[in-house]
Amino acid sequence: MQTKKYLITSALPYANGPIHFGHLVGAYLSADVYNRHRRLQGHKCLFICGSDEHGVAIMLNAKKAGVDYQEYVNGWHKEHGEVFKKYGVDFDFFGQTSADYHAEETIRWFKNLHEKGLIGTQDSQQLYCNDCNNHLPDRFVEGICYVCDYQHARGDECPQCGEFIEPAKLKEPVCKICGSQNIKEVSVTQYYLLLSKFHKEFREWFEAKKDSWRKTVWPYVDSLTKEGLHDRAITRDLDWGIDVPLPNTEGKKLYVWFDAPIGYVSNTKKYLEDTNSSEHYLKDWWQNEDVELSHFIGKDNIIFHTIIFPSMSMASGFAKAADNVPANQFLNLEGEQFSKSRGHYVDAIEAIDEFGQDALRYYLLSILPETTDSSFSWEQFQAKVNNELANNIGNFLNRCLKFTQKNWKEGLPAEAFKGFSTSEMAADISEALKEINLHLDQQNFRKSIERVMALGNKANNYFSDQAPWALIKEDKDKAAQVLAYSSAYALCLGVAFRPFLPQLSGKILEHFEKITSDEWLARLYLGEVAVLDQIFEKGHTLENEVKALVPKIQDETIKAKKEELQKLETN
Ligand code: 2FM
Ligand code: ZN
Repeated sequence: MQTKKYLITSALPYANGPIHFGHLVGAYLSADVYNRHRRLQGHKCLFICGSDEHGVAIMLNAKKAGVDYQEYVNGWHKEHGEVFKKYGVDFDFFGQTSADYHAEETIRWFKNLHEKGLIGTQDSQQLYCNDCNNHLPDRFVEGICYVCDYQHARGDECPQCGEFIEPAKLKEPVCKICGSQNIKEVSVTQYYLLLSKFHKEFREWFEAKKDSWRKTVWPYVDSLTKEGLHDRAITRDLDWGIDVPLPNTEGKKLYVWFDAPIGYVSNTKKYLEDTNSSEHYLKDWWQNEDVELSHFIGKDNIIFHTIIFPSMSMASGFAKAADNVPANQFLNLEGEQFSKSRGHYVDAIEAIDEFGQDALRYYLLSILPETTDSSFSWEQFQAKVNNELANNIGNFLNRCLKFTQKNWKEGLPAEAFKGFSTSEMAADISEALKEINLHLDQQNFRKSIERVMALGNKANNYFSDQAPWALIKEDKDKAAQVLAYSSAYALCLGVAFRPFLPQLSGKILEHFEKITSDEWLARLYLGEVAVLDQIFEKGHTLENEVKALVPKIQDETIKAKKEELQKLETN
């Protein structure tokens, strides 16, 4: 197979609060699966992410916490890195948008687009606090919504009616920095990305994506952009962020939505430099038309990744525009939105420390909100882990490995494997692996994990039907063949699980040391079962101790989790 290059990005999380399951299923787990999948196929991949560290919400929370901005974002950056590690989300690089290397790259983009006439100024009415002497963009001001009368409409948006707010029109505005109502209206000049000038080029690129993008993404973006594109403000008067690189712009910073997506590019540059790569971040990756670029995001980020960033990329010439934007819908918790402030919330770190990576990755991937919103439920979590993962897969692996170890201490003989790779069963496994590959190539994650589970089901049924524990009493050679075939099955399952549940896969492959060659692994993953003849050429011995692979979750544990949630909500 010809090797290709894949550039995979996950939305940069705001360094402004904990990562919860909704974030994990939105932009990180599926990206990680896709990255592992393409690597297993033998392709060259870069998986890039980092913290999004600018913006008014971050500034407000840092002020509230009484720490300086840098210290505040560093804290969340560190914690997020740990969460991703625990969940097995294996970025090549996880950078920070507050770093100098990122400012340098962002400034290059700004200057380029400015010189091309795609950045210009517009004046607008904004609010200013006379007491603390701050400009009050976005969340720095709250007041009564002039559309729906909601008391806490923000300077950028009303959380109740969703109206895009013109701050100067807010009724009874209050400064969120110092609490003052001594606020005046000022006319300010901001820089805008003049997307309206780029409509034709944008549509030419966008229309070609009609058949390949998700049905939840393309039609939505189509309806937003058919008639024209809106110019977007990209600067704010703030004291945290990247300075506007033009004369007479003191106090103006580039706004998050200009700088954040450039983080994908700056982080690639930094990664290649840090690893002393001979590759160039633009020529070899971002500008390389042979690279497939996918942005993994949640649906709230669609506009930025399908309209704004692609336009910035094409107009500057610094980067190709995305090939795929597999945006996910939202995940709820027990049917309602996650909300840290209302206590309707599960701590992702506590959960993984309690249940482990395999159980959580399995459940979260199986409810991935690919086409519609979905919901995390503790009871369904238990049922799926116990009935599907433990009873089916875990049970099969346990029985197969333990029975082999107990009865063939000297190893299963090579003859027992004869004929497997050309058997109907092997053909079936090969077909399953090929289908899994196809679904993942098309970024259909739920279908692909369902296919893996169906393969596991078959293995479990085969083992039960053959009843080797009875067979061994009559015909040990025949029983050896059943165990050899089951072992080959177990190995293939370990390989099929590799992109989804890397820990479980590792625990299975640990018993098949002969597959250490990446080439064999890649061939088997692609469904080339003939490679099993080489792997089992000399039979198979289980050297490592066989431990239970998928622990079950007890009823009391789930009961406690549900009670914990209720307690948090009532507090
Ligand atoms: O929604 C968010 O969490 C944003 N921080 C995503 C930014 S994605 C990218 F553009 F960096
Ligand atoms: Zn104030």
